[in-house]
Amino acid sequence: MEAFRRIRAGILMGLAGALYFTASATWAAPAVNNIEAGRALAFDRAKGNCLACHALPGGSQAGDVGPALPMKGVTFQQMFQTKEKLVAFLSDPEKLFPYANMPEFGKNKVLTQQELEQIADYLWSLK
Ligand code: HEC
Repeated sequence: MEAFRRIRAGILMGLAGALYFTASATWAAPAVNNIEAGRALAFDRAKGNCLACHALPGGSQAGDVGPALPMKGVTFQQMFQTKEKLVAFLSDPEKLFPYANMPEFGKNKVLTQQELEQIADYLWSLK
């Protein structure tokens, strides 16, 4: 009985350790992972699907409803000043540019706040 208890405690501690390892590996993701994740979300036809309307570096079969990104002669930094403003734009474009005929990714819950931030990190990295 005593041995069984000790084994059970060992298994539980092992489980806790594995959980802790998984959790810390996800939470401590460095910025470069955000850029890659954001690029994947932007290119994913079922997620951002930005290529339906915007050309993006390395993207194929892009539509031209919106301007090619990044726009000629203006960086995202110049256009939006802060990454928070870019996230807010992607969440609800009409709030910032009333003429923007673009889906409201956050307002319509197509993308989560975290996904919007990852896409913003990706766009921010484009020169
Ligand atoms: C259904 C088409 C459509 C989709 C999908 C779309 N956009 Fe747009 N986007 C537009 C249009 C139209 C504009 C406004 C163009 C203009 O300024 O006249 C715009 C504007 C923008 C702008 C600002 C540039 C400007 O001209 O004001 C950015 C940045 C942008 N889009 C990023 C994205 C990103 C990132 C995605 C994917 C998450 C995306 N868009 C998905 C149509 C789209």
